[in-house]
Amino acid sequence: MRHLIDPMDLSVEEIDELLDLADDIIAHKDKYAKVCEGKKLATLFFEPSTRTRLSFEAAMMELGGNVLGFSSSDSSSSAKGESVADTVKVVSCYADIIAMRHPKEGAPLLASLKSDAPIINAGDGGHNHPTQTLTDLLTIRREKGKLSDVTVGFCGDLKFGRTVHSLIKALSRYENIRYIMISPVELEIPKYLREEVFEQKGISYEQVRTIDEVIDRLDILYMTRVQRERFFNEADYIRLKDTYILDMPKLKNAKEDLSILHPLPRVNEISVEVDDDPRACYFRQALNGKYVRMALIMKLLGIEKPE
Ligand code: NCD
Repeated sequence: MRHLIDPMDLSVEEIDELLDLADDIIAHKDKYAKVCEGKKLATLFFEPSTRTRLSFEAAMMELGGNVLGFSSSDSSSSAKGESVADTVKVVSCYADIIAMRHPKEGAPLLASLKSDAPIINAGDGGHNHPTQTLTDLLTIRREKGKLSDVTVGFCGDLKFGRTVHSLIKALSRYENIRYIMISPVELEIPKYLREEVFEQKGISYEQVRTIDEVIDRLDILYMTRVQRERFFNEADYIRLKDTYILDMPKLKNAKEDLSILHPLPRVNEISVEVDDDPRACYFRQALNGKYVRMALIMKLLGIEKPE
């Protein structure tokens, strides 16, 4: 039985296969409408979500399967003090596959040790978010036609943003990626990523404080929300929350074929006026998330691609 807890749980070949399968699902949706008939996905969300939970549920429905679950810890027995391990042990008797989001780093890993069904980490605290990474990789591949030889700017909350952490890890296995980290000093990438990914693999990256000084060089701009729920005090959040606001004047020197990604939800960091620019990819990205989750559910359930 395979779980997906960390983006590195998948080999580069497996990621390529998942993205190929997602592309095929997009091209031939009808072919996949019944492949998960009789199967159930449980979504256990101990933390808020719109896209991730609903795209998982839509993914399973579009594969012909069923869904069950809860969308907040208040509405589960965790409010009575049940451990994650017990919850998962029980839910794995009811469902064939489980997607789980939890505010504590490592909770899905612990769950995977107790579960009788595959566990998918749908976000654990400020740590990992591997299915957002698959979404991001599919989006980059569909927009750019490749996953190597690109200049990527990561902007915003690089300290607490789990989507950034997982995407950096995943990209570190592709060739010739130039990384530019755009953040205030307080929100730089965590030390473990610096040491375990960049230093260990001998990959260099630039660190800057403004979008303006690098926008003309970027192929991809990955914007992120300042992660309010992970701050220790509100005053710091208020001071940092509007550090970066991407608007049309900021895009003046950007490449014609820049791809602007954002895992969403956005707060103020991208003005709505940018949404109509063809370079804004974030709503297409959200849609890609459903297709790549369809591919992942099939893989973890061992369902073959239909003829
Ligand atoms: C992200 C998350 O939950 O980490 N959202 C998502 O899954 N698309 C990003 C965020 O909350 O800022």
